[in-house]
Amino acid sequence: MTQDEMKQAVGQAAVERLLPHLDADSIVGVGTGSTANCFIDALAKHKLAFDGAVASSEATAERLKSHGITVYDLNGAPQLDFYVDGADESNENLELIKGGGAALTREKIVAAVAKTFICIADESKLVPVLGEFPLPVEVIPMARSHVAREIVRLGGDPVYREGCITDNGNVILDVYNMSIVNPKQLEADLNAIVGVVCNGLFAARPADVLLLGTPQGVRTIE
Ligand code: 5RP
Repeated sequence: MTQDEMKQAVGQAAVERLLPHLDADSIVGVGTGSTANCFIDALAKHKLAFDGAVASSEATAERLKSHGITVYDLNGAPQLDFYVDGADESNENLELIKGGGAALTREKIVAAVAKTFICIADESKLVPVLGEFPLPVEVIPMARSHVAREIVRLGGDPVYREGCITDNGNVILDVYNMSIVNPKQLEADLNAIVGVVCNGLFAARPADVLLLGTPQGVRTIE
């Protein structure tokens, strides 16, 4: 199985997990990235089984709309039972690094609102300790140098993501060389830096379920 086939398999598995719970009023939270796109394409085949979706990025909103799925503003969505999204890394506790696609802030907001967060990923994303993947931090542009200095004090090596402006008009610092043994603490420490909008650690609110694509099939961790 190729990596793309594993992504398609977990996208399909997420749809199958959701379907028995969907009705005409259901609104589904949808993440961002290539694995989330596989989920969107599989979900679109059942678009009459639910009302619509809340998107975690402009790119996801466009893809949903291209399938004829209604996209709601989160503020207008009365209830969100499920959020489905990919990840850059997950540990066995389903604490995640996200934000490789720069959508981390909206992803974290939609995940916070949803009752159940289903993470979908191919097996390369499951790691013993988070931090091999550089940790994205969304920053208010004028605070970029200040935040970078504070991150160095925390032991990381921040690198400005050239040419990247988030959907919220901010910039991204990717933090290298951090072995993240206490994700909740680091998530809180980064959030405490003035000028940080959000960081890509999903530890205070981890995923509830991880559907992991492997050559042998989809493995479920929950
Ligand atoms: C975007 C994300 C994505 O979920 C993450 O980057 C994984 O992407 P992909 O499924 O393409 O590997 O957090 O901000």
